[in-house]
Amino acid sequence: MYKSYLKKIVSSSIVASVVLLGTTCNASSDDAKKVAKSSNSVGPAKAEVSDSVKRTYANGKKVIDGGVTYPIVNGKTGAYATNEKAHKAAVKFGKPATANEIKAWDIDVMPDGTGLPEGSGSVEDGEELYEEKCVSCHGDFGAGSGSYPKLTAGNAYEMQKTLTNQRVNGNDEGPKRTFGSYWPNASTLWWYIKTGMPHPAPMSLTDNEVYAISAYILNINEMEIDGELVEDEYVLNREKFLKIKMPNKDGFIPKIDGPKGPDNVRAFYDDVSNYGNGTRCMKNCFDGEAKVQKIKLAISDFTPPLSNEKSLPAAPKGAKTEHPGKAGYEKHCAICHGTDSMGAPVLGNKAAWTKVLKQGKDTVYSNAIHGKNGMPPKGGTSLADDKIKEIIDYMIEEAK
Ligand code: HEC
Ligand code: HEC
Repeated sequence: MYKSYLKKIVSSSIVASVVLLGTTCNASSDDAKKVAKSSNSVGPAKAEVSDSVKRTYANGKKVIDGGVTYPIVNGKTGAYATNEKAHKAAVKFGKPATANEIKAWDIDVMPDGTGLPEGSGSVEDGEELYEEKCVSCHGDFGAGSGSYPKLTAGNAYEMQKTLTNQRVNGNDEGPKRTFGSYWPNASTLWWYIKTGMPHPAPMSLTDNEVYAISAYILNINEMEIDGELVEDEYVLNREKFLKIKMPNKDGFIPKIDGPKGPDNVRAFYDDVSNYGNGTRCMKNCFDGEAKVQKIKLAISDFTPPLSNEKSLPAAPKGAKTEHPGKAGYEKHCAICHGTDSMGAPVLGNKAAWTKVLKQGKDTVYSNAIHGKNGMPPKGGTSLADDKIKEIIDYMIEEAK
């Protein structure tokens, strides 16, 4: 659910997601557009590094990701750190996208109607298509089935009231995260269906079919367009689609769309009445009940920054530790003692080693150190006697 929610947020607002994901993405796509506008050249061109990127990486002080400022310590901000020491010259962005590449990726529909084609479709046709292509996963009348998302939770305007609790409670009183009650833009529905559904055959629907199915989804959410209820005989087209006002269009605060996005975020968090218990507090802030719900996987610590060096996890308690002679055996002795083709007592062969040990351990040590028939002195190594004994102890251990 969380994943689909995220995807929805991301797809519902490209601009917003870019700001959320960080200044780097923002800047690089700006770059791409800038370059694409100024030339149609294919192949590597000198990447312009925009001012915002320079600001982020050159002063070494701060990175702004959405509304949060992270400290940079040793050139790192966190798990996805850019290590400035390792990349002294500059951050490399690869080759700028060409105009055609951008065109191929640019298939979304924007809330202002950019990218939305002409076309039309009726609720009736939409219902038929839905029954044929969508009902198996999304259930009768969009009620959802199993873990497949609901496409409606009932009357969108009624459900929208649950959003008042949005930032305070994640319990049953929380928002119903369905298209009708939650999504801020209808445009997302159109291109989500067009490009992603039906799940097993994306891009298979015609524009008119997408209008018809969208009309049906508006219908089962009991929504209105321009004051008119989307009833069974309603026919949706581009012009009407652009008049859809989503019940939750103002529910996402702070507004992070547009160039003023980061300022909105700052202003939002500067105003303590927007969250928490409404008063600024630096000490013992939650005497009573904490009113803000914490994100379970919230990042809590950047200092000291995560290291690039990875060490093996400590062996669990009680785990069998490796015999100190094992490594030496593998390096110097396994070649002959791994099989019986040389006539050497094979590692782990109980019978062979019982026979060897009948001579007494000291003799065995001595034979191995000084050599015996096919056994070269010290196995052909120049290891210290103690090391050889350690390895023999390992071999004896393995035959127990
Ligand atoms: C084989 C199963 C399957 C079929 C058939 C299918 N979908 Fe989906 N649909 C999914 C899954 C799974 C998701 C969630 C995807 C995700 O979040 O990654 C989804 C998500 C959606 C969403 C977004 C819901 C939300 O709130 O996040 C819409 C809208 C949607 N589908 C519409 C349709 C339409 C319209 C059809 C028929 C043309 C259709 N789907 C057919 C599996 C299916
Ligand atoms: C070139 C092959 C070869 C290598 C390398 C080798 N061995 Fe051997 N080893 C033998 C053979 C063959 C025997 C059997 C000798 C016999 O009893 O005739 C043997 C016998 C032994 C025995 C039994 C001696 C006894 O008293 O019967 C020990 C202990 C032993 N090796 C330890 C080692 C150790 C420790 C190493 C590595 C440091 C090693 N070997 C490397 C071939 C090898």
